[in-house]
Amino acid sequence: MTVEMEMTLSPIMFIPFMPEQASNFAQEIDLLYFFLIALTFFFSVAIGVAIFYFAIKYRRRREDEIPEPIEGALKLEVAWTVIPLLISMVIFAWGAKLYFQMYQPPKEALEIFVTGKQWMWRVQHPDGQREINQLHLPLGRRIKLTMTSEDVIHSYYIPAFRTKADVIPGRYSMIWFEPIKVGTFHLFCAEYCGTNHSKMGGDVVVMEPADYQAWLGGGTREESPTAAGGKLFSSLACITCHMDENRGRGPTLAGVFGSQVTLDNGTTITADEAYVRESILTPTVKVVKGYTPIMPSFQGQVSEEQILQLISYIKSIGGKREESSAGSQATSPQQQPPPKPAGERQEQ
Ligand code: CUA
Repeated sequence: MTVEMEMTLSPIMFIPFMPEQASNFAQEIDLLYFFLIALTFFFSVAIGVAIFYFAIKYRRRREDEIPEPIEGALKLEVAWTVIPLLISMVIFAWGAKLYFQMYQPPKEALEIFVTGKQWMWRVQHPDGQREINQLHLPLGRRIKLTMTSEDVIHSYYIPAFRTKADVIPGRYSMIWFEPIKVGTFHLFCAEYCGTNHSKMGGDVVVMEPADYQAWLGGGTREESPTAAGGKLFSSLACITCHMDENRGRGPTLAGVFGSQVTLDNGTTITADEAYVRESILTPTVKVVKGYTPIMPSFQGQVSEEQILQLISYIKSIGGKREESSAGSQATSPQQQPPPKPAGERQEQ
């Protein structure tokens, strides 16, 4: 942020009705917001003054006065079309720029999983630490939240970060930000979700990176989502079909995440979080080319949190093809006889 910008911003930082500016986006969003308020104020005053001025200037002076009719005023009409157009385009471009910044998480961001549930927020950190209705974050680190809901629509709202996103069952919402201030900030559910909606909130605690590390080390140790996902991959028997080097009845998942997958109808799709989730719950909808739709649905057998863990595991064996040896450690092909080509076998 330039010095010039900070100077323009300094007055609004003292307005008591704004929450603290605790993330990298806060100042810019406040500036846009301030611009909208200033614009509204300017036009409200200008119109109000014009009404009074014209009411007095063109008031009726005699009982039988008939005003002269006006037939069009091209210059005036062009002005009141073009000026608002330019102003609204400025608002649009500015808003769109901010939007794209906010909704394109940087690759190196620390990914934290958030699950909304009537009426609590569950969080799991990359190394496994869990918490409810709180979110501990390291200062100055880019954070990406991958969020979903177990039941109804919730909305994750951190006013001090100027960030809010609907958390929707069956979908992943992603937001990112960088906390720039140590402290405790409010966290809310901002979408009416039933009886205890108003209590569905808590605190975001931003800590010095060293304190965050210490916090991660405290409490009961939990498996990382990736490790938990790896175990699920075995215990749910995904591993028996999704074997290495496509030797199984299902395609190998090593190196798949983030790549383009060709489906049996000839279309391609990016193997992202949503696609993996869909493939677990409704596997026969989008089948990979060359495979038969024999995979059973895992609907009702896995929770949203477990799906997130599976995604995390699949991501960890993803990336490049050369790295697929990481996946082979987890796979034990000896468990299964060599499968016949796809299509000849049927799952009961
Ligand atoms: Cu959850 Cu309102």
